[in-house]
Amino acid sequence: MVNGTFNIEKKLFKMNNDIKRKEEHIKICLNKPVEHFISTGFERYRFIYQAISSIDLGEIDLSIDILGKKLSAPVIISPMTGGTEKSGTINKNLAKAAQKQNIGMGVGSQKVAIDNPEISFTFQIRDVAPKILLFGNLGCMHFINRLNPEDSKKAIRMIGADSLFLYLNGLQRLIQPEQNIVKGDLITKIKEICRLASVPVIIKETGHGISKEVALKLKDTGIAGLDIAGAGGTSWVLVEKYRNSSIKSQEVAETINEICIPTVDSLLMVTKAAPNLIKIASGGIRTGLDIAKAIALGADCVGIGLPFLKPALHSWEAVNELLEKYLLELRIAMFAIEAKNIQELKNTRYLKRVSNK
Ligand SMILES: Cc1cc2nc3c(=O)[nH]c(=O)nc-3n(C[C@H](O)[C@H](O)[C@H](O)COP(=O)(O)O)c2cc1C
Repeated sequence: MVNGTFNIEKKLFKMNNDIKRKEEHIKICLNKPVEHFISTGFERYRFIYQAISSIDLGEIDLSIDILGKKLSAPVIISPMTGGTEKSGTINKNLAKAAQKQNIGMGVGSQKVAIDNPEISFTFQIRDVAPKILLFGNLGCMHFINRLNPEDSKKAIRMIGADSLFLYLNGLQRLIQPEQNIVKGDLITKIKEICRLASVPVIIKETGHGISKEVALKLKDTGIAGLDIAGAGGTSWVLVEKYRNSSIKSQEVAETINEICIPTVDSLLMVTKAAPNLIKIASGGIRTGLDIAKAIALGADCVGIGLPFLKPALHSWEAVNELLEKYLLELRIAMFAIEAKNIQELKNTRYLKRVSNK
């Protein structure tokens, strides 16, 4: 009995810490400058305008087939949150807008709900978005010492996911005040999860990019694709910097943050190293023009995170409005280079490198 009480208290304490961390992440991402100082690299490329276009804006087809679903546009709302009441609302608003536009969406790390199933509802969005391409989300590192590969099935079942994102966040963990440093054979774990999971697995970074060497290590593990989450957008080293009260740790975070691969560089590396895998370009995608350039440089679709956070706190309509702006910009970019559909955008001759920086 004494032991039982102790265990319950310990569990509640752990849950409160995890929830507190999630609240802090949202607050910091909404209020602090958490984006990388270096840029994505998209500014190195420019479309060559075709003044005589043979196509109408209205006939441009943005749809793609990916992971067994047809999306109306090549966009995924990147995984961000879940686990608290506020994040449950954010997930629902993101999901309603994703359903309206028929695009993809990921929920944030579900580890907290695997430990505390009573908060699973904050990740569940199928009631408002029955059709969307939905991604579950767990950290690769969790499988070294805290989760069993079988737990990946729980995450998928919990939300009715079509695919599972497994994220890498090695640098973030080093800067976290909790210093959750673990060491182990990630490749073997990833292979096991791919074998067990009933849906395709995508490995993603969280804002520091995936290198050619990492893509080569991952490409034969059984994964379906890579989400590069390169540098130029949200930096989790900076997010953790703001959670850290020690000046020394804050300075270390600022220094270390420079170790990263800009989104464009990571996309080019991964496209070359693993041409047969699905490639999601994310990290600092901020306009429809960025989306167009990412696809012309080899991505199958893009992921966007931070810009949706504030609108999702307000309403699904606010998220939808931002999505509509991105899709209009994408359409106009395609019109300007006479690309009628995403395949033609992928094969365009009209993207030129204009800077060697
Ligand atoms: C508030 C917030 C929470 C996030 N939480 C997660 C997470 O739980 N799991 C994950 O894989 N990525 C997470 N990310 C990272 C994003 O999915 C994405 O990879 C990264 O933010 C880069 O995209 P962006 O520059 O468009 O924000 C989070 C991002 C934000 C802004």
